[in-house]
Amino acid sequence: MLPKTPFYYYDTRLLQETLDVIKQEVAPYPNYHVHYALKANANPRLLKIIQLAGLGADCVSGGEVQAAIDTGFTADNIVYAGVGKSDHEILTALHHDIFCFNVESVPELQVINELAAMEGKVARVCLRINPDVEAHTHANIVTGKAENKFGIALGDMMHVIELAKSLSHIQFLGLHFHIGSQITDMQDYVALCERVNDIQDQLNEVGIYPSVVNVGGGLGIDYYEPDKHPIPDFKTYFGVFAHHLHLRDGQSVHFELGRSVVAQCGSLIARVLYVKQAATKQFAIIDAGMTELIRPALYQAHHQIVNLSANSQQSTLNSQLSTYDVVGPICESSDVFDKDVLLPLTKRGDVIAIRSAGAYGETMASTYNCRLLPESFTDKDIQLLL
Ligand code: LLP
Repeated sequence: MLPKTPFYYYDTRLLQETLDVIKQEVAPYPNYHVHYALKANANPRLLKIIQLAGLGADCVSGGEVQAAIDTGFTADNIVYAGVGKSDHEILTALHHDIFCFNVESVPELQVINELAAMEGKVARVCLRINPDVEAHTHANIVTGKAENKFGIALGDMMHVIELAKSLSHIQFLGLHFHIGSQITDMQDYVALCERVNDIQDQLNEVGIYPSVVNVGGGLGIDYYEPDKHPIPDFKTYFGVFAHHLHLRDGQSVHFELGRSVVAQCGSLIARVLYVKQAATKQFAIIDAGMTELIRPALYQAHHQIVNLSANSQQSTLNSQLSTYDVVGPICESSDVFDKDVLLPLTKRGDVIAIRSAGAYGETMASTYNCRLLPESFTDKDIQLLL
């Protein structure tokens, strides 16, 4: 029996395999540290598996810092970025004595210094530098161009480092970068490495030697053929940094991977409510919508859609196919998962899987239209028997 739809289904075996590959591919580089970006998926059961695999945590809010601590991530493995950290959130992170704040502006640096002084602590910080490097991905998830709100402008970097070094309750550790998400062209990371190399040369000339270089996250996944590429190519990814990033003695490199860790292990499971023949289109209206998975509506993102019921009966129904716009029930025209999808003949009650939804699915769900937040299950809870 399937649980009530819609719900998230997580394949924890695939997650474990993905984590094993990350561990294996990072092993040749003892100064590399991988932090998992909780924003991609903060489901407590997945967080526990990721923490047990030995990854650190990358947080963007006080709530995420708390979730990381509650899961068992050790504070000395937690980094915290974000352009708008509130006083309360900064205090949460100070209270737990996290490894590092990734600071995004001068006023934020000053506030962290004041709050740390009040608490009798010294806050370790990296400065998030906006490297003005292009990432070839969707415009809404580019972060490292000069016009984006993130980070400190390259031209201001020198004086902000001087300021950080002069503040009594700040310890300057190094630099942080993040150029964007769903990056599949490794040349973008080569460009980032080259920019970081130039920056380090400039800093060394004036006697500044950062001990930490955090290159952020962003490694993309294959949304078109998830079964062909269930685990991203971490070997090539770490290899790009090993090859192109020129490190100084004693430097550690930090990564903040979100999507590439969890995207492929999750599917959104829904049922077909109605098949509707309209004037020019045939719609498969399902019981999940943009409230459960907003990526198609927000980023025109593609997710593979599979009719699990029809697939399991394919031999009896032979393989007749038809074209559907697969849509949700929400009162928004953008509540469309995909258009003109070729599916086996689809009928009311069929179970649909929307694949590669483990990242930025459940965490971005909303209660719009007074809907309930989706539940989640793992392979340990259910057998997907149809
Ligand atoms: N570090 C920082 C500072 C970030 O802003 C992000 C993502 C990451 C790490 C993790 O990036 P990842 O490895 O997951 O690409 N909701 C969008 C993605 C937004 C990404 C925001 N920042 C989506 O569904 O495509």
